[in-house]
Amino acid sequence: MTKKRLLSGIKPTGSPHIGNYFGMMKQLVDMQDDYEVFAMVADYHALNSIQNAGEMRKLIKEIVVDYLAVGLDPKKIILFKQSDISEHTELTWILDNLVTVPFLQRAHAFKDAEAKGKEVSVGVFNYPVLMAADILLYDTDIVPVGSDQKQHIEYTRDIAQKFNNTFGETFKLPKEKILESVATVQGIDGRKMSKSYNNTIGIFDTDEEIKKKVMTIVTDSSGELPQNVYNIHKLFRDEDDLKKIYEELKGKYKNLKELLADDIIKYFAPMKARRDEIAKDEKLINEVLKDGAKTAKQIAQEKLNDIKTKIGVK
Ligand code: ADP
Ligand code: TRP
Repeated sequence: MTKKRLLSGIKPTGSPHIGNYFGMMKQLVDMQDDYEVFAMVADYHALNSIQNAGEMRKLIKEIVVDYLAVGLDPKKIILFKQSDISEHTELTWILDNLVTVPFLQRAHAFKDAEAKGKEVSVGVFNYPVLMAADILLYDTDIVPVGSDQKQHIEYTRDIAQKFNNTFGETFKLPKEKILESVATVQGIDGRKMSKSYNNTIGIFDTDEEIKKKVMTIVTDSSGELPQNVYNIHKLFRDEDDLKKIYEELKGKYKNLKELLADDIIKYFAPMKARRDEIAKDEKLINEVLKDGAKTAKQIAQEKLNDIKTKIGVK
């Protein structure tokens, strides 16, 4: 039986945090034996915030190391860089012609940026179309993501459907895979953990950084238990076990936070050690990207040829 195909991406914009790990990275790792996994470095998507060549180069390498350190096995999966496959941007242009301005104006990310009075680049506005191209080029069945990406996958399906209606059956309609228990991992201030809120705990932070950040988790003394601490803690321990501990240490927020910091440190320690090793291996990083690009290119090229035939330019 052929395996179902799974694709997801992460922007090279800095070291991953607990939300990225549980929302997306861990899903890829857990599914790599049973699915054909495509793990993408979304460097063209990151271009809206990273506009310095040296920094971009460094961040791309780092995210490859991160992917491998969390347990993705390059012998099993295809790890590639979006910009290596020019078909992504080519397909974006084609899809752009099926997408209306009001449709993109309804996207959350665009609306948020507008609401904050930010100057919105065409790249940011068009972000969902490039993401649709990423997914549709590979006949992806499943896209594992955190809940903030749900609308992007819905957009992808809408765009695919519109293309299919206009030019004939071409694209598979992908489904998002959002694990309910980790759909939105909370940050240290109780809001969604996100690089843009500055409320993250990085999975590769030093032990000291982790302790310091955990100690600053916002607690509310009105409830039965420090909910913001508990919500992060349940990612690392069985809930029955955790409930007992929180009962025993009722009111002792400092002790509970110390325990959480220890649990986080222990959980990521093996990955951190692996990361240190992989980071030294420049050759491995380059080879993984080269191999990934070769496989991805072949599939993307074939798909784009079919698309070009369907629209009549070939
Ligand atoms: P950030 O918001 O920190 O910039 P990204 O947009 O780079 O994160 O997200 C990369 C992946 O991690 C996406 O699949 C996203 O849904 C997931 N993700 C990010 N933050 C969280 C979170 N707090 N909880 C669950 N998943 C998350
Ligand atoms: N937009 C995603 C994010 O911010 C990253 C991404 C780009 C992606 N292309 C993708 C995720 C394709 C899944 C599939 O996290």
